[in-house]
Amino acid sequence: MKQNTGKKLYNTGKKLYKNLTSSFLVGMLTLAVMLGAASLEAKGKLSYYCSAQEDWCQLMARTFEKETGINVNMTRKSSGETFAQIKAEARNPKGDIWWGGTGDPHLQAAEEKLTQAYSSPMNAKLNDWALSQSASANGKTIGIYSGALGYGYNEKLLQKNNLPVPSCWRDLLKPAYKGHVQMANPNSSGTAYTTLATIVQLFGETKGFEFMKGLHRNINQYTKSGSAPIKAAARGETTIGIVFMHDAVKQAVAGFPIKVVAPCEGTGYEIGSMSIIKDARNLREAKMFYDWALQADVQSMALQVKAYQVPSNKKAKTSKKAPDLSAIKLIDYDFKKYGNSAERRRLLKKWDDEVKSLAL
Ligand code: F6P
Repeated sequence: MKQNTGKKLYNTGKKLYKNLTSSFLVGMLTLAVMLGAASLEAKGKLSYYCSAQEDWCQLMARTFEKETGINVNMTRKSSGETFAQIKAEARNPKGDIWWGGTGDPHLQAAEEKLTQAYSSPMNAKLNDWALSQSASANGKTIGIYSGALGYGYNEKLLQKNNLPVPSCWRDLLKPAYKGHVQMANPNSSGTAYTTLATIVQLFGETKGFEFMKGLHRNINQYTKSGSAPIKAAARGETTIGIVFMHDAVKQAVAGFPIKVVAPCEGTGYEIGSMSIIKDARNLREAKMFYDWALQADVQSMALQVKAYQVPSNKKAKTSKKAPDLSAIKLIDYDFKKYGNSAERRRLLKKWDDEVKSLAL
């Protein structure tokens, strides 16, 4: 009997100790989580929408996080898709900053009051083309890089299929290239919208749309992302990809048999841009990122991921491998007109109705 009582007492004590230990541990854990959340709260967070190449987007996010302690939540989508997302979220914005992607949809976002003005102290360090983009949107966007449109082809596939070497936009209409050309869809991709707007500016709207219909006969696929066609050409899945020249150079530098073409008639270009989203929940962090992203050493990081755009900060480093914009016949691309909301919508609808609807 006595023995049983002792054992009972011992067991009750053990249980009590176990309960106390586990509630102590739970308590400590809760405290740690709370402290963690509080320090995150103190350091802040940033919802970052990125429309440049994935590896560059990641590098920017992780470096900013490391340097500031601010927690970055990244969403990477093509330019037109990001514009559509910001528009869909306008009543309840989820993003704070939109970095990268072609300038036209950034200008459209500014006009549709989806983004807000900010004058960074870093503006004084930028090239004029970056500032004129900002001026035409009343300070609601800024140029971060620029790059010329063109195309690239897989030299080995071209030879294997006995195809002529292309050097002009008009060459791409040759029946010999049927099924050999790939480009993105201009609704989702800023690259492809720049292509459509470039062709319209080069040849006039009527002839430009005739061109797009002729090109359609040779297209094997419209991709979502602008750089996908040249990645496909590098893998041997298409012969020609219409892209920004810097995206084609990246594949050539990586060792793929890609040749880069600056079309003989002349070509358009982009002013890759950055904008702060209207009613951003983390405005302080968005402005910090904005100022940080305009610094010369931050823009020079592009070379780590072989991003060969021309940086907007005058002191940022460029690579010898990057396309030399001064040696390319560039058109006087009308950013104001083609970044205008009604014009962009009209051209995209016309392309959907008159080009995309035709059988491939
Ligand atoms: O891959 C980089 C890049 O070409 C940028 O220079 C450009 O702003 C962006 O992609 C456009 O991507 P998309 O055509 O997918 O919108």
